[in-house]
Amino acid sequence: MENSNGAVKPPNPFNPGSPIDPADFIGRASELENFRQKLRQTAEGSLASMAVAGGYGVGKTSFLHKCKTIAEEQNALAIYFSLNEVDELSRETLAKVLIQRIQEKVREEVILKRLSSQLFNLNLLERVRIKTETGVEISLVREPKGDAYPNLHSALSAAWNALKGSKTAIVFLVDEARVLEKNRAELILYLRAVLEQLQVSRVPVMVVPAGKLTITGPTGSGFSPLVRTFPPAVLENFSEAETKAFICRKLRQVNFVFADSAFPHVFSVTEGHPFVLSAYLSAAYSKMPADETELKEVYFKATDLVFVKYVLAPFFSRFYDQAGPFSKRILGVMAKDSAGETTLSKLTGALKKEANELSPHLAKLVQDGAIVRIDRGKYKLFHHLLGQYIREKSGFGVT
Ligand SMILES: Nc1ncnc2c1ncn2[C@@H]1O[C@H](COP(=O)(O)OP(=O)(O)OP(=O)(O)O)[C@@H](O)[C@H]1O
Ligand SMILES: [Mg+2]
Repeated sequence: MENSNGAVKPPNPFNPGSPIDPADFIGRASELENFRQKLRQTAEGSLASMAVAGGYGVGKTSFLHKCKTIAEEQNALAIYFSLNEVDELSRETLAKVLIQRIQEKVREEVILKRLSSQLFNLNLLERVRIKTETGVEISLVREPKGDAYPNLHSALSAAWNALKGSKTAIVFLVDEARVLEKNRAELILYLRAVLEQLQVSRVPVMVVPAGKLTITGPTGSGFSPLVRTFPPAVLENFSEAETKAFICRKLRQVNFVFADSAFPHVFSVTEGHPFVLSAYLSAAYSKMPADETELKEVYFKATDLVFVKYVLAPFFSRFYDQAGPFSKRILGVMAKDSAGETTLSKLTGALKKEANELSPHLAKLVQDGAIVRIDRGKYKLFHHLLGQYIREKSGFGVT
């Protein structure tokens, strides 16, 4: 964009749709320290994994990317991948994915000359065999040749044997990993069993699943394999300081400044939610004229008119438009409250239903990330702007 003085506005530095470049990563200091410590432990032969949990857009993918950079600085073979597209995952396909990813990563490192070309011969996939629950051996062997690895554990051990001269550990960063929790966390238990076996032979493998994980394990079982083997780092909204650091760092990249006086407004609108914040900043930035270099409150105010209705609508629709009719009614009641809060007793009154009829819907809304349980029988919309979205959608009037 060019103004009459010929000033050209730099491209928008805010990209709400993309994970942050690890070099620009903000905050999460204790969670990153936690990762570093577990990686150190793993590399020393005392295997330690962890999980990353948090709602939509809170920064899980960005966190994994940052962990990957840290692991690479420690000379680990760090492998990031997402289970996003996978609905049906079995032990066999999970094992196959892990082994395949090691091979791809090794190939990449060899091409970049970070690993010896001898490792090109790491042909584990051809020879891996995995036992299914029924005891039947499924083989990923294309043509049985040489010794087959009887399971994932031995395939990983073999990979490590080939890598140990050049790497400190193998780290899997598994995004969109909720699928691992299906069937009473069957695949998480499988991974735990593999890690336990690897511990015996001190093969340093770390697995970090991330996603909207339930983390408390199968409901009602009191048994939580995820928590013990994969203690979760739960990502929350940015603090005020992190929010400010995020804004200033991005604006500095384009030599712009942030008007401090706008901060209270920005923080109250976004609540420091990383995706909402990125989207808000991106929208306000686009309102700046070409000869302006200070991001002031006026540009945020100009954004407010369209922000929820147009900018955030695609993000919020999953929580409301795609909810079932009964969940929608619950959300509708919550949206009428200015803070987006409600209690079980208010809901039973407003919807004329028994608490036990409401509970499964509330549990589902919590699991889907639309609401959070703030106390016994007390719930809150995960973001106050979701309340505004619902009010605008259902014609309750705009605040
Ligand atoms: N630590 C951070 N520092 C700076 N920006 C961040 C950070 N974490 C997240 N963001 C920004 O917030 C937005 C959402 O981040 P990200 O995609 O990592 O979240 P997510 O939890 O993986 O989202 P989803 O639930 O959609 O997978 C992105 O625009 C990203 O750039
Ligand atoms: Mg993500």
